Amino acid sequence: MRALRKTAPAPGLELCEIPEPVVGYGEVKIRVQRAGLCGTDVHLYNWDGGAPGSLTPPQTLGHEFCGQIVEVGPGVVEGYGPDELHVGQRVSVEGHIVCGRCRNCRAGRRHMCIRTIGIGVNRDGGFADYVVVPARNVWVQPEEIDVELGALFDPLGNAVHSCQPLELTGQDVLITGAGPIGIMCVALAKHAGARNIVITDMQADRLELARRAGADAAVDVTTDSLASVMTALDIREGFDAGLEMSGAPGGLSTLIDSCTHGATISLLGLPKGPFPVEWGKVITSMLTIKGIYGREMFDTWYLATYMMQTSARLRETVRSIITHRFAPEEWEAAFQVAASGSAGKVIIDWER
Ligand SMILES: NC(=O)c1ccc[n+]([C@@H]2O[C@H](COP(=O)([O-])OP(=O)(O)OC[C@H]3O[C@@H](n4cnc5c(N)ncnc54)[C@H](O)[C@@H]3O)[C@@H](O)[C@H]2O)c1
Ligand SMILES: [Zn+2]
Ligand SMILES: [Zn+2]
Repeated sequence: MRALRKTAPAPGLELCEIPEPVVGYGEVKIRVQRAGLCGTDVHLYNWDGGAPGSLTPPQTLGHEFCGQIVEVGPGVVEGYGPDELHVGQRVSVEGHIVCGRCRNCRAGRRHMCIRTIGIGVNRDGGFADYVVVPARNVWVQPEEIDVELGALFDPLGNAVHSCQPLELTGQDVLITGAGPIGIMCVALAKHAGARNIVITDMQADRLELARRAGADAAVDVTTDSLASVMTALDIREGFDAGLEMSGAPGGLSTLIDSCTHGATISLLGLPKGPFPVEWGKVITSMLTIKGIYGREMFDTWYLATYMMQTSARLRETVRSIITHRFAPEEWEAAFQVAASGSAGKVIIDWER
């Protein structure tokens, strides 16, 4: 089978021909149909940033994917009941594998596991014709969610998880960073009935995607004034809810400056390193800042699926974030586009 792999601890990847993986105890084998590229994959490709430390080559990349179960391993409850797995099901996969033994795992807070490892980062992932994953990481998708939407559930889950601590209905919402996840937050805030949704970035193409996804204003922080946008939208006292989706220090300072007293800010964007924060403003504005990692297992998956299942508009808005689709053999072009920072979501079609 084809597999896009890191073959040496250095920049680059290789599209290899390797044997199909063998399904082990408690695992299922999936025929991958679509897979999404994200910033982590670009870092692993470049062999820079924080990601390389945890990957031991040779290893297949890819943690955002959707496909069909082709084999159910020993020890997995196989069948056609509501919580059972069988060959032919269309599935997305939770990319975080948890230990099951730490205090958080034992208390049912699995997304807070202290020993989380990642599919496509610490073990072979979904940039391949086939992948083997633990059955408990599989999420069966309903009819309404096709393979392309299914491949977006990892980043969509990041966006949903970021929205979970926030009140959005009737609120003024500020999102910093119009990458795929920031734009998904726009779509979710719209779905939740926010009063105004404002997003910031400095990439014109991404700001345009965000406008089309329902942003009331998409602000280029290098040229536009957020204060005048707030005046135009009649946002008098600041934003009620904030979502940091850029990883840039400027994104958080914009939120701290522009949110009203008592606002809650979800922090998903991963900064490159430590940076100064105006803590005095956080204190006197009585802000709540909540770090968000991954997806709640599996509350976030239920929320994401049920919202997508019941809203054709949300499905089409989320789909519109995909701007590029490539065959596995075109992987170099796919990585170039993903690294450019101006595209939406980039998908590799493993059926091509
Ligand atoms: N916590 C988690 O579990 C988790 C999971 C996935 C991704 N992430 C992080 O979340 C962030 C969003 O992911 P993505 O794939 O959408 O990212 P992305 O890197 O594609 O998008 C980030 C966007 O922020 C913009 N930006 C940079 N500086 C800015 C500033 N000062 N103000 C406003 N915008 C600015 C960039 O132009 C870019 O469009 C990234 O930082 C990523 O590393 C975190
Ligand atoms: Zn990712
Ligand atoms: Zn654990």
